[in-house]
Amino acid sequence: MKTILVTGGAGFIGANFVRMVLDEHPAVRVINLDKLTYAGNLENLKGYTDNPNHVFVKGDICDGPLVSKVIDEHQIDGIVNFAAESHVDRSLVEPGVFIETNVQGTLVLLKIALEKKIQRFLQVSTDEVYGSLGPEGLFTETTPLSPNSPYSASKASADMLVAAFGHSWGLPYNITRCSNNYGPYQFPEKMLPLMIHNALNDKELPVYGDGLYVRDWLYVYDHCTAIWKVLTEADPGTVYNIGGNNEKTNLEVVGLILERLGKPESLITHVKDRPGHDRRYAIDSSKIMNGLGWKPTVTFKEGVHRTIDWYLSNTDWLNHVVSGQYQQYYESMYTNR
Ligand code: NAD
Ligand code: DAU
Repeated sequence: MKTILVTGGAGFIGANFVRMVLDEHPAVRVINLDKLTYAGNLENLKGYTDNPNHVFVKGDICDGPLVSKVIDEHQIDGIVNFAAESHVDRSLVEPGVFIETNVQGTLVLLKIALEKKIQRFLQVSTDEVYGSLGPEGLFTETTPLSPNSPYSASKASADMLVAAFGHSWGLPYNITRCSNNYGPYQFPEKMLPLMIHNALNDKELPVYGDGLYVRDWLYVYDHCTAIWKVLTEADPGTVYNIGGNNEKTNLEVVGLILERLGKPESLITHVKDRPGHDRRYAIDSSKIMNGLGWKPTVTFKEGVHRTIDWYLSNTDWLNHVVSGQYQQYYESMYTNR
């Protein structure tokens, strides 16, 4: 694979992926198409924007003529689609834009990928498409899709479109379904950076409901290496779950952050729950581990410490991100909750 189109490469995971590819695969060119929504930030690519193997294009995946032009101009071999509206809470307030980008935008990419005979289309999906688990069991790649939020419904719709393009017209695709990521450059609307930011400022840590909701946490670099392996080594038409085998309750995660920062537990405040909140996610990653030889390399404690250290030494990044619109968002979501 000589030239890949990465969509959403100025967001959290996309930017970490672009950095990894440019650092570790110097024969590969990356064309990075990102609309720069509130979640996209060129500061996430600092030090990489003038890399000769990286071309940044500001644009929307829903814009078919632009996507076609970019693919022709740069002779794209593979597409990795990260571009999405990604926050569950926002999808519960304004679902329309999730359908527009996550479903309609993916459809635009699929049609063009087929027309241009792209060698591989990798859809970056999520474990949330499987719905919620009880106290036992793990999601496997054959678990039926049963999404519960507008966000996960839009991601599941996109997954089904991708598979339908493979089934109907032979599009060579892969779908990856990963658990909760954390690490550098994550926008502080998501739980981990939001709690770090609040704790640093001695603000309340808003834990939804009883805080006993369970997520499987994976350090973002490990997600990126898994995507690369699937893109370059997996058979077409296959789906891979990716997880950290690392289940934690939200209270455990918040406790680790407070301990590392030396802040008191009294900052924890239980607030009104997220509507329809999925109780537990847990992933069986044995297919990618046994089939492609991938494994996570960063333990949770090490990853959380690295993440906190990154936020502590990147206060300029954090201050820019939380200025302006973020304050309005925070007030609308958390006041009187
Ligand atoms: P993010 O919100 O940080 O970044 C999304 C990026 O997509 C931003 O740079 C944004 O500007 C861009 N974008 C949005 N709409 C666009 C459009 N119409 N055209 C072009 N670009 C657009 O998201 P993230 O957390 O980095 O997630 C990336 C992908 O990984 C998403 O598809 C998400 O569903 C999936 N995922 C995320 C996680 C997680 O824990 N964050 C876990 C599993 C899967
Ligand atoms: O599982 C993968 C998914 O993980 C991705 O597909 C999504 O893009 C990503 O946002 C993430 O979804 P979650 O809803 O699990 O992540 P979030 O960080 O929003 O919340 C994690 C948990 O923390 C969840 O149980 C809700 C809770 N939470 C979240 C916030 C923002 C709180 O208790 N308080 C908060 O303020």
